[in-house]
Amino acid sequence: MCGIIGYTGNEPAKDILISGLKQLEYRGYDSAGVAVLDPKTGIILKKKTGKVEELAKAAEEETTDATCGIGHTRWATHGGVTETNAHPHRQGSVTLCHNGIIENYKELTTEFGLKNQLKSETDTEVVAALLDKMYEGNPFKAIKKTVDLLAGSFALCIMFDDQPGKIFAIRNVSPMVAASFEGGSIIASDLTAVINYSKKYFVVPEYHVLELSQDGIVVRDLKGRTVEPEMLEVNWDIKSAQKGGYPHYMLKEINEQPEALERTVAPRVQDGLPFLADDGIDDDILKSLQNIVIIACGTAMHAGMVGKSLIETKLRVPVTVEIASEFRYKDPIIDEKTLTIVVSQSGETIDTLEALRLAKQKGSKVLSIVNVKGSTIARESDYVLYTHAGPEIAVASTKAYTVQIAALYIFAARLGLVKGVLSEEDAREFMTKLSGVGAIMEKTIEASNDIRRIANHIKTAPDVFYIGRGIDYTLSLEASLKLKEISYIHSEAYAAGELKHGTIALISENVPVIAIATEEHVYAKVISNVREVKSRGAYVILISQEGKTESKEVCDKQIYIPQVDSTFGVFATAVILQLIAYYTSDAKGLDVDKPRNLAKSVTVE
Ligand code: M6R
Repeated sequence: MCGIIGYTGNEPAKDILISGLKQLEYRGYDSAGVAVLDPKTGIILKKKTGKVEELAKAAEEETTDATCGIGHTRWATHGGVTETNAHPHRQGSVTLCHNGIIENYKELTTEFGLKNQLKSETDTEVVAALLDKMYEGNPFKAIKKTVDLLAGSFALCIMFDDQPGKIFAIRNVSPMVAASFEGGSIIASDLTAVINYSKKYFVVPEYHVLELSQDGIVVRDLKGRTVEPEMLEVNWDIKSAQKGGYPHYMLKEINEQPEALERTVAPRVQDGLPFLADDGIDDDILKSLQNIVIIACGTAMHAGMVGKSLIETKLRVPVTVEIASEFRYKDPIIDEKTLTIVVSQSGETIDTLEALRLAKQKGSKVLSIVNVKGSTIARESDYVLYTHAGPEIAVASTKAYTVQIAALYIFAARLGLVKGVLSEEDAREFMTKLSGVGAIMEKTIEASNDIRRIANHIKTAPDVFYIGRGIDYTLSLEASLKLKEISYIHSEAYAAGELKHGTIALISENVPVIAIATEEHVYAKVISNVREVKSRGAYVILISQEGKTESKEVCDKQIYIPQVDSTFGVFATAVILQLIAYYTSDAKGLDVDKPRNLAKSVTVE
């Protein structure tokens, strides 16, 4: 949650900070603020509630040429959405912004008698006050003393009034990347704000103090020893993080799926077979596993459910899917014979990270399926299978979801081969089909015009139901989440056969029911469930494979995916469901990319 940025160098800082905050805005958009340290006038602080654009307008009045500053875009946790609670926070000679949660801020407020000097309701301001208390002219010492007191997660960018041209930073759990380039040094919550200046960067190591200046970045551990961070190079450019002519990131990202699939699948096919050795995943770990636990949140968890369905059906290996926020407080039944698969786009979701740590404690090996290179989850896993979706900016996840499914499919194929459940011929056929889904998705996107009309129909509905069986049921769950989060329409997903055990009471005249029936072996069963809702007045939208045309007695509208082996229909169906949610939100005139109350990465509990 929240995006932070710091820049110092030879360019006007204000513009760099605001343009960086625009890139980071998907992380939180309740309020935004910047502070620059002007050598002539001292700190200039501007904060605004609402989106970064509001801050940009307000900052236009400032004519400072200061070249050092920090900025923040907030997803509110402690304290309401007000200007006072917006970051940066200032106490004495300290100005800072923060991403994360300081769990013991109340105790620290009491212990150090800070109550009367705090202006905001935030946990962050307590850190500023503590730093100011500890500061005697040596930033390193003050930071060390302060972080020794903090419990929780934090990424902090700090300026001291008497340290012109310098930004100090430290983090625990909450992410930060940094880079130095010709124009100075930059640090931010993620690469989208850095890549414009440098393709070479490093992930800020935890509990290390960074000192950024025009001349570069010095990294010290808490003993004061200088450390050389591991440099990484990003393989996408700023265009990937821009809208590229699309009205919204979400639509762009939906359209990018065929390419993202290709980037994720192609390097893992060798001689037509699934191949994971280049990812460092050796066959021994696959041979020895007896069961699998997939842990994730939200959309990533729904991808895990598709993986479970495939692995259990095709390989007969038992898989459980766990919601990370539940798993982390359980006493889970796992051991060294369990392989834990953690799925996360950002690689920084706190519940998923803590669940990973618990799984490791229990002796399980952890393989993570992650999109963001070098993220905490990736670094703490025993094995990483990177998805190559590129940056996903829209809060509603689309391309990250389908590549997560693709990664699980590749994993399943390799597992089947290694365990001798799939013959080489079967595995080859499987990979050929998987490699072909990009083209099928492309065809589906091209034929998506009808979906706008359907969206227009459902945009005024108070409730929408999704039903399906098997993999189509797991797709229903994701479709329903997508619709809720960006269109604010109440929606539920039901296993088609389960509706009549209670929820069918909610079906009345004109209630939209989106029925997914792409799997041959349960097609007839779903159609009979569709008839049940249709005869109670539902407005039925049926998604099926081409060639399965149903009469008006069964459904009001029908959308087709191209004919495809049922196991691989999930990719094209996902596109249709994403587009239904997208066009519904757009038809309602909502902010598709930044839905209310949400943020892209959930780094707080
Ligand atoms: O970054 P992660 O994949 O760990 O995020 C998990 C969920 O927060 C995420 O999938 C969320 O449900 C989606 N953005 C919703 O579209």
